[in-house]
Amino acid sequence: MHRIIVEGGSKLTGEIKVSGAKNSAVALIPASILCKGKSIIYNVPEISDIDYLTKIMKLLNCDLKFENDSLIIDTTNIKYNEIPENLSVMMRASYYYMGAMLARFGKAEISFPGGCTIGARPIDIHIKGFESLGAKVEIIRNKYIITADKLIGTKIYLDFASVGATINIMLAALGAEGTTIIENAAREPEIVNVASFLINMGADIKGAGTSTIEIVGKPCLENGVVEVFPDRIEAGTFIIMGALLGDNLKVKGVISEHLESLLSKLSEIGIEYVQSSDAITISKCDNIGSCYIKTLVYPGFPTDLQQPMVTLLTQANGKSVIEETIYENRFKNTLYLNEMGAKTNIIDEHNLEVFGPTKLVGKNVVATDLRGGASLLVAALISEGRSVIDDADYILRGYGNIVNKLKSIGAKIEIENV
Ligand code: EPZ
Repeated sequence: MHRIIVEGGSKLTGEIKVSGAKNSAVALIPASILCKGKSIIYNVPEISDIDYLTKIMKLLNCDLKFENDSLIIDTTNIKYNEIPENLSVMMRASYYYMGAMLARFGKAEISFPGGCTIGARPIDIHIKGFESLGAKVEIIRNKYIITADKLIGTKIYLDFASVGATINIMLAALGAEGTTIIENAAREPEIVNVASFLINMGADIKGAGTSTIEIVGKPCLENGVVEVFPDRIEAGTFIIMGALLGDNLKVKGVISEHLESLLSKLSEIGIEYVQSSDAITISKCDNIGSCYIKTLVYPGFPTDLQQPMVTLLTQANGKSVIEETIYENRFKNTLYLNEMGAKTNIIDEHNLEVFGPTKLVGKNVVATDLRGGASLLVAALISEGRSVIDDADYILRGYGNIVNKLKSIGAKIEIENV
């Protein structure tokens, strides 16, 4: 397990590069199962989730080769295998092997997926989609056993615009006879990233990024090539740090369009920034206004930036209110923020009040989950004195090379293996 130690108060200046998006990469690797032969994924982030996903690929007898930040995957000798709990439980994205293996093999056996405890996080919408395509899904102890003699394309309406379910059903639909239409599909950029990979392999997919996606079943795909989109959540986290401590901090390699909801909120509360084609340059704002934030599916305000944003709002003038509509347990980090001097109040599982500005003081804290850990890291950077963040492995799951990146722009930060 790792802990991160921060001496707060340093200005953040210079240039920080955004890595490939975790939530794209963790879907692209399982999706490569659909490619017969070699596929290449560029701009893969250096995060621990990737390690677990590549272990699963090797379990399926695929050959993998990293060349810098490119991953070459060869499924020529792929062999069916069940995915054991010690791997599936390490991350939520292991569930993407369900759709990919269903399309490639007509079956999948995988223990329950893991993931941050920010809510119940069922996968009923995924399962309903597989069943609509003609698959049989059994749950035996803590394992899903999914089988299908034949998958038949059909129209599927998602009860909630779930990112995971949209991608998983898109993968499975490629193994179906005929056309599948997903209604109320999620519109996150990660969906477009995965669809572009599949289209490069020869898939016929229309509408990715909109609420209606049409997939023509085609199990024989080859020569996949894709570049992982820049991580909009990592970028947003760095931009928030810049608004608190920046001195012309340049956050490089962003797709601003993916950050519109955050950038619009920052402008609303008086935070200025310079936007160029692939970078946002931002400096510390001394007069941050309070606001109301409601997290929504894309293109609304992303739930994954809610926790880092709460840290920023501890420095805003007055009372801010956060309505977290996506998860029911995503305020755990605020208990530690309050220990550092913040004034936040959990109204109920979906609503939080933040009163500012408050002076934060370095403390020993514990990362509660990935983005909760990121919020504590932001708090440690602005706190007076030394903070120690235990269970920092949560943070390393979604922020590649984060300590060296922050050191390079002036942060006084170290990481220890304990
Ligand atoms: C993806 O999770 C991301 N993870 C999450 O990022 C992100 O918060 C989420 O999308 C929303 O943007 C990955 O991509 C690996 P959902 P996912 O299905 O697919 C409910 C991070 O910090 N739901 O859109 O699991 C669910 O309980 C992580 O990077 C069902 O009820 O999100 C939740 O309340 C955290 N039934 C809501 O929908 C289902 O079958 C959002 O889930 C599926 C989801």
